[in-house]
Amino acid sequence: MNKKTIEIRNQFLKFFHKKKHKIMQGSSLIPKNDTSILFTNAGMNQFKNIFLGQDKSNRYSKIATAQSCLRTGGKHNDLENVGYSTHHHTFFEMLGNFSFGGYFKKKAILYSWELLTSKKWFSLPKENFLITVYKKDEETYDIWANIIGIPPDRIILVGNKTKNSDISDNFWQMGDTGPCGPCTEIFYNLKNNTFNKKIKNLEEKINDYIEIWNIVFMQFNRINDGSLVKLPNPSVDTGMGLERISAVIQNVSSNYEIDIFQILIKDIAKISNTADLKNQSLYVIADHIRASYFMIVENILPSNENRGYVLRRIIRRAIRHGYLLGIKTIFFYKLVSSVNKSMNINNIYLLNKKEYIENILKKEEMQFRSTLNHGLKLLHSKIKTTINHTLDGEVTFYLYDTFGFPVDLTEEICREHNIHVDLLSFKKHMEKQKNRSREKKTFNQNYIMMHNVENISIFMGYNTYKTESVIKNIIKNEITQQFISSGEKGIILLNKTPFYPESGGQIGDIGIIYNNEGTFKVENTKKNGNMILHFGIVEHGILHVEQKVFSEINEQYRSNIQKNHSATHLLNSALHKILGDHIYQNGSLVTPDWIRFDFFHNISIPLKTIQEIEELINKYISKNILIKTKTINFTDVKEKNIIFLSHKKYEKHVRVISIDHYSNELCKGTHTNRTGDIGFFKITSVRKIASNTYRIEAKTGKNALHLIHSQEKNVHEICSILNTNPNNLKKTFEKIIVKQKKLEKNISKLKEKNVANIIEKLSKNKIKIKNITLLINTLQDQDLETLRNIMDILKNKFKQAIIILANLVDNKVNLIVGVTNNLHKLIQADKLISIILKKIDGKGGGKSDIAEGGSVYIQKLPKTLKEIKSWIYSII
Ligand code: ALA
Repeated sequence: MNKKTIEIRNQFLKFFHKKKHKIMQGSSLIPKNDTSILFTNAGMNQFKNIFLGQDKSNRYSKIATAQSCLRTGGKHNDLENVGYSTHHHTFFEMLGNFSFGGYFKKKAILYSWELLTSKKWFSLPKENFLITVYKKDEETYDIWANIIGIPPDRIILVGNKTKNSDISDNFWQMGDTGPCGPCTEIFYNLKNNTFNKKIKNLEEKINDYIEIWNIVFMQFNRINDGSLVKLPNPSVDTGMGLERISAVIQNVSSNYEIDIFQILIKDIAKISNTADLKNQSLYVIADHIRASYFMIVENILPSNENRGYVLRRIIRRAIRHGYLLGIKTIFFYKLVSSVNKSMNINNIYLLNKKEYIENILKKEEMQFRSTLNHGLKLLHSKIKTTINHTLDGEVTFYLYDTFGFPVDLTEEICREHNIHVDLLSFKKHMEKQKNRSREKKTFNQNYIMMHNVENISIFMGYNTYKTESVIKNIIKNEITQQFISSGEKGIILLNKTPFYPESGGQIGDIGIIYNNEGTFKVENTKKNGNMILHFGIVEHGILHVEQKVFSEINEQYRSNIQKNHSATHLLNSALHKILGDHIYQNGSLVTPDWIRFDFFHNISIPLKTIQEIEELINKYISKNILIKTKTINFTDVKEKNIIFLSHKKYEKHVRVISIDHYSNELCKGTHTNRTGDIGFFKITSVRKIASNTYRIEAKTGKNALHLIHSQEKNVHEICSILNTNPNNLKKTFEKIIVKQKKLEKNISKLKEKNVANIIEKLSKNKIKIKNITLLINTLQDQDLETLRNIMDILKNKFKQAIIILANLVDNKVNLIVGVTNNLHKLIQADKLISIILKKIDGKGGGKSDIAEGGSVYIQKLPKTLKEIKSWIYSII
């Protein structure tokens, strides 16, 4: 009988279903609300709080699951065994049955024995089993020996590892803390050896047997101080590795020979042209693709922290084994479809994630591949020269930091050469690095000096956009490095370069530095002393010091900068000519998109003058004058009437940019050949930015044209709204303004009329008590200005009056209360309004003669006004 793995999983669940267990889904690989473990490492994890008696919501006393597990760290770590052992995995499935007070030792053992040996179920020969029991657990021993009938020489009692401790192979615990208890383990003789020798010790046993099922009797909780606390209900937690039991049932000597692994292994062998299907590297890759797949499904991404780092380690380890198999291309992602095939995945959610998983794996491999080769070369050269079979922590750190080698990968490679890695020294280097980052300062010249960086770069960019150069230094994380690789940001120093470094207002060039092995994207270029520093990121591959490269600037970007720089000189000259020789440059910025030019000047510049300046510059441009460069002695500068910045320090020999007799300026920047190259010049804004300082912003060429286009578009849109054309726009606006003024006049006349009407109406409603006029009235939809106006007129009219006007607008009431000065001893407007507002839940205030307020509770208004009327009567 050769059952498939999937069938075996189903039979397990079916068996326990028959035994009245609730069949439940396994939980996520990321434990919920539990920081004691990074990944789900056993079937019981999701039931931890039930075991501890903290979760009382569980309705089932018997449960069975097939749980995906990852054992890559912490108490249960099988990562290093993968590839070397035929029965360990990072990712595997654990079949488990659980009892929460439902049954205990005897039933748990009877169930396992029935499933394993019954002809109806797995039908495994009884004589191939061996059992281990916790030494102190006599009850379990008795069940195996006397109820099941295992011969005593096949029951091994396992004690504690040391005296006074309960640490034992037969005392299982989930993590450093949490549920735990004695266990009994079922072993199977995979080689089908007939049992003819007496087992003397564990070591001997382990060679022929593998553990297939662990039955834990959960009786304790290990708490933080390491001590054990008894659990409220003794429970059962069992775990059987699906891949192991499948190897047993399929009668193969390794988990990697079972059906699901063979599918993967054959695919990998095909990619790598490997004939030997028992090659360890095939095993590693097959295991790791499954782990990577299911971690990425849980939205974990390769990174340098926590779960992301575990994933990165696994992927990188697999890639390194691909390298060992001689796979030269990016391959790991291709196995995603093999996992789908091998695990018979038909879940739509997972199938839809295929491309996502592939992309993540592809990216990680691309990043790591480029450095792997160089890193391995370095490691192998260091391995050759190690002393006392120990690799210095500095090398391990360097591999980690520069090449992204996880430490366990370095350890593994060293182990293959019988070399030990000095982890203590590695940790020290790691700590130093952390301190360095903490003190991170901005990059400075001293730093490079300290590291003996060759400090001269020759600038070639006046006449050429591309040169062949040599990388003289690489700076990464503020440290000089030998390599820089894919995805890393840093600074490259070349012996010569066409890249113009940001200076004299002109911004730095962008472009690429590249060769066959890698490409560095230059995002900015700056100067430091005599060094030209290319800032950027490696797009792909790896670059290293002393390597030949091409350095090539982005021509379009530079060409736009040049147009703007030459235009800036023309602007400076035009300002001198039109505004006067008092003009003095006080800062400038030349970018590919626009120009900023600040200068000393003290009176505002009318539009006419601005246009004159533009016209003059465009005249210079249309003359298409050759822009010349020469080097002269600085001492000659003053005589020759050349513009320079008197506050700046110049070298002995200076560079002069001349545009005929119109412009002569000291400048190191880059320029167009002729003024005609600028194309067109347009000022976009002129404003005063400080006393005696003005700022002009401008654009050239296409950018200037685009600006005019967008302004033109605005005008067209306004015209279409006003139903006119650009030529009539001014006239149309004038008409609108005249019309508007007329309307405003009419409105104010109407308002006056309205006020007169209201006053007349209100006056009719007044009440006179002892010479005092009391007027309480409600109006509708009046604006505040009108109300105030009415109040003023009424107060003047009645001389001695108390007036309350309530104005209803949009379901709200605005109140205005007025009291003539001669009544203030008796009553004040602010007091009166506060009494009213209190009753109608409103807000407001004022002074003794006038007060205003409002409320949204208009339904309370009529009653309140009545009450206030009576109250006023009473006090008069
Ligand atoms: N929780 C037990 C184990 O993982 C069954 O071995």
